[in-house]
Order: sequence, then C-alpha cells, then structure tokens
Amino acid sequence: MIGLHSVVRGVGSYLPQKVLTNADLAHMVDTSDEWIVQRTGIRERHIAADGEFTSHLGLKAAQAALVDAGLTAADIDLIILATSTPDQTFPATAVTIQYELGITRGAAFDLQAVCSGFVFALATADAHLRMGSFKRALVIGAETFSRILDWQDRGTCVLFGDGAGAVVLEAVPEAEAQGRGLLTSHLRSDGRHRSKLFVDGGPSSTGTVGHLRMEGREVFKHAVGMITDVITDAFAATGQSADSIDWFVPHQANRRIIDASAQKLGIAPEKVVTTVQAHGNTSAASIPLALDVARRDGRIKDGDLVLLEAMGGGFTWGSALLRW
Ligand SMILES: CC(C)(COP(=O)(O)OP(=O)(O)OC[C@H]1O[C@@H](n2cnc3c(N)ncnc32)[C@H](O)[C@@H]1OP(=O)(O)O)[C@@H](O)C(=O)NCCC(=O)NCCS
Repeated sequence: MIGLHSVVRGVGSYLPQKVLTNADLAHMVDTSDEWIVQRTGIRERHIAADGEFTSHLGLKAAQAALVDAGLTAADIDLIILATSTPDQTFPATAVTIQYELGITRGAAFDLQAVCSGFVFALATADAHLRMGSFKRALVIGAETFSRILDWQDRGTCVLFGDGAGAVVLEAVPEAEAQGRGLLTSHLRSDGRHRSKLFVDGGPSSTGTVGHLRMEGREVFKHAVGMITDVITDAFAATGQSADSIDWFVPHQANRRIIDASAQKLGIAPEKVVTTVQAHGNTSAASIPLALDVARRDGRIKDGDLVLLEAMGGGFTWGSALLRW
C-alpha cells in the first residue's frame, strides 16, 4: 500500500450574528467587564438565535471550507462532527449536515470529546484517510454551548460562546504531499477528573439535557501541565520544536492558560493565534474557528508548520502538528 498523508485542502467557519458583550452579561449576573477580561481575556462571544441549531452552524462552516478548498459536497465521503451539543440525542448531527449537503455516500458520525473534540476528530479522520478507507473528509467542530449554560451561574456563563469551524482533509500520496499534512497527533483522557467539568444531565441518567458545571480552579490547575505534556510528545515524535513551528493555534478557553502554556514551552508570543477575546470558549469549534481567522488574515500560509492543542471535560486532551 502506498503511504498517504492527510493534507488540509480548505478551512471555513461560521459565527452566529448575535454578539453578547461582557457589559451585556453584567446586566444578567453579578460580574463586570474588568473581572472577565482580567481572568479570561474574553470580551465578547456569539450566541445562536432561537431556532439556530448546531447543525446549522456546522453546515455553514462546512460549506465555507468546501468553497475555500475549491471542492463540492460530491467530493466528500467522510464527515466527522466534534460536538457536545448535538441537535438531538440521535441521530448524529453529522448525518443532518451530510443530508443538508446532499451527500448520500460514505459515512458521517459525531465524536464527543468536549473541548478536545476537534483534535480527536482530526486524528480520527487522519487514521481513516491514511488507511485508504475514505478520500476526503470534512472535520467539523460545531457547538451551541449557550443551550447548556446555567445563565444564573456567573462562574460558567461568562466563559462560553457558540460557533463552528471546519477543515477539508484529503488523502494525498506521500510523493505528492511534499511533506504537507498531519504529521503527528497525541490523544489522552483520564476519567478520574470527570466530575471537574461536566453536564448534570443526560438521556440515560436524568432524562434531561442538563447544565454545564465546573470547578474552574481545578480545571485551571491541571490545564497547563496536560497541554504542555502532549505538545512535548508531538515535538519528540517529529523532531520539531517551539522554534521551528510557525503558528501555535491552541484551544481558546482562557487567555491566561494559553499564555502560560506558550511561555512554558518557549513559544514566542507573536506565533500564538488568539481569538478567545472575540469568541469566548466555543469548545470543539474553537480551533477551526481560530485556524480560519489566521488563514484569512494571511498569517497561516501554505507550507507553514501549525501546532494545535486542546483540553476539556473528562479530562480529555490532545495535540496535533500539521504542515499546512
Ligand atoms: C473560571 C475562572 C476564570 C475563575 O477564576 P478564578 O481566579 O479561579 O476565580 P475563582 O473561581 O477562584 O473565584 C474567585 C472569586 O471570583 C468570583 N467570581 C466567579 N465568577 C465570577 C464572575 N463571572 N464575575 C465576578 N466574580 C466572579 C467567585 O465567586 C470568587 O469570589 P469569592 O472569592 O468571593 O468566593 C478560572 O478558574 C478559569 O479560567 N478556569 C478554567 C476554566 C476553563 O477554561 N474551562 C474550560 C476548559 S475547556
């Protein structure tokens, strides 16, 4: 079998129209713009409209990624949607997106690893593509966390936002890829931490959707160590380093976690792509949203070495290194 690389062909994203600022939140709970900015770096976030579902956001991001790739839906035979806020318990929201795109071949499924979902989905798509099972994949992160927030809980409702991002990955023979594609990925989880960031409902336990609950300080305490561990693994596996990467595109949860991780790894601040100020934490959507911003404003160019990382509920965490 010939060696295959999973090469990024295109990226796209979508944000709901409605913007919720910190000042807006200060009218809803006992908080302030100053507190939120100082602790998290977040200034505003987008919120899905009534009747606007995760599938709608994901579909728009997928369509934008297809346009960027110069492809049509007919070229896609695999859809993996990373989400923790599906339209329904089942069928998978990926199947709704597949239907809306008019695709009736290949496979579509959801993947649930909370905020690490996009990195887990990318690694999963890569494995399928390199095995030759599929030719072109849409890897989507789409979330409507606004629907599972407790809007009375100031410790969590100020942190999250809605949005979607997507990339098109294509299996390309090694000889043609010229070093481009996903170079390595490292996925981890540890269920001992599952009660530190969770939703207090579900089909099999309460029969309700539930609300997000978090021990913020505990999450913060573990985040930087977990993130830097999987990045060190990515560097060891590839011989790359903080100096050789062009862009660091971390999960956008909190400015302080991003800055502390970059600093610990020795990644120069000008290489760090940060969108948390404008998007809040959009969970599985945050990395592809940030990728799209940095691609469109001209920062990420063909051939650039791009480092991704994420951590989230579970805990789950992971890294991926790719040559764009
Ligand atoms: C949530 C987070 C910003 C809170 O910051 P913190 O410095 O740890 O703050 P604490 O939770 O210890 O609370 C400190 C004080 O601020 C208060 N507070 C909490 N949320 C507040 C808000 N939105 N506005 C104002 N005050 C708030 C607390 O009630 C507490 O008050 P007290 O000292 O009178 O009890 C921080 O823990 C964090 O970022 N954690 C990681 C969260 C994350 O990224 N999760 C997603 C991972 S994918």
